[in-house]
Amino acid sequence: MSKAKRQAPTLPKGTRDFYPESMRLQNFIFDTWKRVSKRFGYEEYEGPIFEHLELFTGKSGDEIVSQLYHFEDKGNRALALRPEMTPTLARLIVQKGNTIKKPFKWFSIPRLFRYERAQKGRLREFFQLNLDVIGTESVFAEADLISAIVAMLVEFGLSADDFSIGISSRELLANYLIEIGVSDPNLVYPALDRRLKTSPEAFLSTLLELGLLETQVQKINTFMESKSLNEIRTMISSPNSIQALNDLQNLFDLIENTGFGPYIGLDLSIVRGLAYYTGIVFEVFDRAKSMRAIAGGGRYDNLCENLGGQKVPGVGFGMGDVVLANLLKDHDLIPDLHPKIDLYIASFTNDFPKVFVLANQFRELHLNVAHPLEITKLSKQMDQANSQGARCVVYVDGEKATENTYEFKDLSKGLMHIGSIQDIVEYLKNEPS
Ligand code: HAM
Repeated sequence: MSKAKRQAPTLPKGTRDFYPESMRLQNFIFDTWKRVSKRFGYEEYEGPIFEHLELFTGKSGDEIVSQLYHFEDKGNRALALRPEMTPTLARLIVQKGNTIKKPFKWFSIPRLFRYERAQKGRLREFFQLNLDVIGTESVFAEADLISAIVAMLVEFGLSADDFSIGISSRELLANYLIEIGVSDPNLVYPALDRRLKTSPEAFLSTLLELGLLETQVQKINTFMESKSLNEIRTMISSPNSIQALNDLQNLFDLIENTGFGPYIGLDLSIVRGLAYYTGIVFEVFDRAKSMRAIAGGGRYDNLCENLGGQKVPGVGFGMGDVVLANLLKDHDLIPDLHPKIDLYIASFTNDFPKVFVLANQFRELHLNVAHPLEITKLSKQMDQANSQGARCVVYVDGEKATENTYEFKDLSKGLMHIGSIQDIVEYLKNEPS
């Protein structure tokens, strides 16, 4: 009797496999993220991939909560795979209380999970660089983060023609909403955040349903479409609104003085979907706006307090790997990411004991070394050396080699040499590849 054919296992929807080829791209992105984060003085941290469910419910905002992957563990604890890093960061800060010296700048590259409708740039499992400045209300923090975003995207090869950072202020919006008679701004943020994703009619009817008047909705539209802070200045009068506007103006002045003016713009249509933002908010988009935001963030001065800790101001952003990789591909900015090793140890006679000994001698000198793993013809060994990106092939049994010297071939130049282990190490160090 023939056995029923088993169905081959498949990849869960919205997740990715990282074969070595994709892993090279992933590492290229992570290495660049880490290098620039460190250049700006951010220190790396991590947390667990799952947290107590209640860390996210009520704090992150309805949209993200509806996308949670949550489960009960064997001890009946309600847990969730993290959909974002900010609540974990706030928990870390609350736990340490006054024992962490503030202000400080931290970064992390968490793997995150959101039950989203999987599509281009939107997956159910993704990575996100997080940069956060904790413990200061100074707008220097926002300026530092925005400078880091620019430096990072420029490091990837992008320019001001490719992306822009739209900046807004939830505080200004909140105070304006209060000025026009909207008593609970928190209630309308989700609708305002979706404003450009729905029709004007649908936007109006959602706000009417929330109890707003048509005249208030018109004012909100005018506010969100304003292109200059001077325009807004004529629309506000409360000291809180004026203070929020001045903070925004200070940030623009600071960034323009740094020379990053071409990368930023006022965009009062930005509200951000997450519930905890309290001040300046920003999003990074490709100029063509052909994809979802590359990054988004803002100030969240009450999150630690809402988690039961002291009030600790914070501001930060998240930048997703999926959108960034798509953008780099679209702009042809993925460098040549072939595998690379220093040496491949080959043997005409398949003399494995010699191959192993020599390979390990080079590895002790910190070189990356490969060799054949089974008896094979030299031509196949050479194919393996090439596909593994070896710079040189060393022959353990080259005929012209004398005692303690080896014949070796520089694969990119096609030239043969003879030398000792030390000579080969020196050659790799000094000879341009
Ligand atoms: P967020 O706007 O939800 O912010 O996400 C930031 C970025 O993560 C997005 O702009 C996008 O590039 C990427 N991203 C989000 N969801 C997905 C997804 N399903 N698939 C692929 N990429 C995605 C936050 O998460 C905040 N916690 C950021 C933050 C840090 N705010 C302050 N500090």
